[in-house]
Amino acid sequence: MKPVKSLVLAAPLALAALAPVSAGAQEFSKELIEKGRYLATASDCVACHTNHHGGKPMAGGLPMASPVGTIMSTNITPSKEFGIGTYSETQFADAVRKGIRGDGANLYPAMPYVSYSNMTDEDIHALYAYFMQGVQPVEEKAPETSLPFPMNIRASMMGWNMLFRPSEMHKDDPAQSAEWNRGKYLAEGAAHCSTCHTPRGVFMQEQKDVNLTGGQIGPWYAPDITNDKVHGIGSWTQEDLVTYLKTGRLDHRAQAAGSMAEAISYSFQHLTDADLNAIATYVRSVSNPNAAQASAPTRFDQGKPANELAAYRGKPYADGIKGDHAGSALYTANCASCHGVSAQGTADGYYPSLFHNAATAGDNATNIIAAILYGVDRHTKDGHVFMPPFGDQPNTVNALTNVEVASLSNYILKDYGNAKLTVTPEDVQVIRDGGPSSQLVLFARIGMGVGAGVAVIVLGAAVWLLRRKRSRAQVAA
Ligand code: HEC
Ligand code: HEC
Ligand code: HEC
Repeated sequence: MKPVKSLVLAAPLALAALAPVSAGAQEFSKELIEKGRYLATASDCVACHTNHHGGKPMAGGLPMASPVGTIMSTNITPSKEFGIGTYSETQFADAVRKGIRGDGANLYPAMPYVSYSNMTDEDIHALYAYFMQGVQPVEEKAPETSLPFPMNIRASMMGWNMLFRPSEMHKDDPAQSAEWNRGKYLAEGAAHCSTCHTPRGVFMQEQKDVNLTGGQIGPWYAPDITNDKVHGIGSWTQEDLVTYLKTGRLDHRAQAAGSMAEAISYSFQHLTDADLNAIATYVRSVSNPNAAQASAPTRFDQGKPANELAAYRGKPYADGIKGDHAGSALYTANCASCHGVSAQGTADGYYPSLFHNAATAGDNATNIIAAILYGVDRHTKDGHVFMPPFGDQPNTVNALTNVEVASLSNYILKDYGNAKLTVTPEDVQVIRDGGPSSQLVLFARIGMGVGAGVAVIVLGAAVWLLRRKRSRAQVAA
């Protein structure tokens, strides 16, 4: 967009924001509300702001595990009492882009305002129109967040924001195509790929210098999706990536479970082909600064069909379960019915092969353990994809112990995946508990302490500068 046009657009917006008109008094056009609905879908607001066990859309109450404790999402329906019905457009924009709540308190970055900070005023306006007039108000109070000290002090986020919240809105890079720019805007903003796929630093901030090179997100690992041919998805075509984002599956390579399945179910599958292609164009241009040598095998082409059970035929079953063949016996009993006796999957790919599968040959074993404990649950236009969980989930039919999950994982890794990895029962417990966290709590505590310290220093510096300016002004006068 030309800068002149955006200025013209921004002026009435800024005026509208200043005027104390509540949204109820304003009538938004159908087109604007529809545009807002699409952006809300692209941004996946509903995934976090809905309790998926019987809650109403956008009414909040979804408990979100974070390394610093459980954070509750809030009611963002236009209810005046329990939701955001009294928010002005400025307050709404500040919540979405800056993480500042209507009453001025800071939000926790579990709300991805760091990503949304790139959103244009135009898009915020459309989102506001949708949330005020396209969403059904829900007159219910969402449960409140209570974090342990010092994280319960919302003001401590001020320091963090000063250090890590981007202050720039998206600007088109004239050296790149319009498609690439649209893709960057969506991938780095609304669709927030980096929230999950970018590693976090000690203060829980996204490490942008290694953007999209892979990160732990709860019990799942969001792999490297840079164009690195070995560690990333450099071997995928544009069409491969679009297909995966639309359906959650790429035959003989990858399937989406966990938070990626949610992102696809609620958000990505509903995007237009043009937007998915734009995202793919941008993501495929992101490189890994620590790129590997080009010849090593990728996680998509390791392993082979095999079954070691034959080796122990004729021996008592119980021996097999406890002894060397525990993994293959567990596999035959629990997995073979769907994934095939030699893990070859089914011809139509509905039940995937476990070799040539990203989940079994990644750089770490997180996703094979998580797949066994939590299963797969994904809704797309292609239908419902389901693998039952074998952890202690409410709908588990056959719960496996940590020792069993470990020996099953090791069997799968050895024959079908990355044979260099080994899983211990302790590793399984970590994933059962929702992913590695304990160290991060400490880091986060220190981080917030440091953040608060930095805030004091910055404030001090600001006061000092102001004083100096004043005294200079006095000298000049
Ligand atoms: C990854 C999860 C997640 C997504 C996606 C998300 N939010 Fe949030 N949001 C949260 C959480 C958690 C909070 C509460 C944080 C807190 O209490 O500090 C929150 C708080 C808010 C608030 C403050 C409400 C209040 O309490 O007054 C607004 C407004 C909001 N979100 C709007 C949005 C919009 C609009 C979108 C989509 C563009 C969105 N959120 C997407 C997790 C999310
Ligand atoms: C809420 C977290 C989250 C968000 C947001 C997210 N991803 Fe993912 N993604 C994951 C996880 C977790 C996996 C691993 C899923 C699995 O193996 O079952 C994954 C897997 C993938 C894979 C397959 C890689 C492989 O080796 O299996 C691709 C490609 C991908 N994501 C692309 C994207 C893109 C592009 C975006 C943004 C448009 C995005 N993701 C946003 C969490 C996320
Ligand atoms: C009732 C059928 C069924 C059973 C039993 C089953 N699976 Fe699956 N499995 C599936 C389906 C369906 C998928 C997902 C396919 C997709 O996403 O398109 C899947 C996916 C997977 C994945 C890939 C997950 C990811 O995140 O990429 C792994 C690994 C896996 N299964 C391992 C196992 C193991 C190990 C067992 C035995 C403990 C097992 N499965 C039992 C149906 C089954």
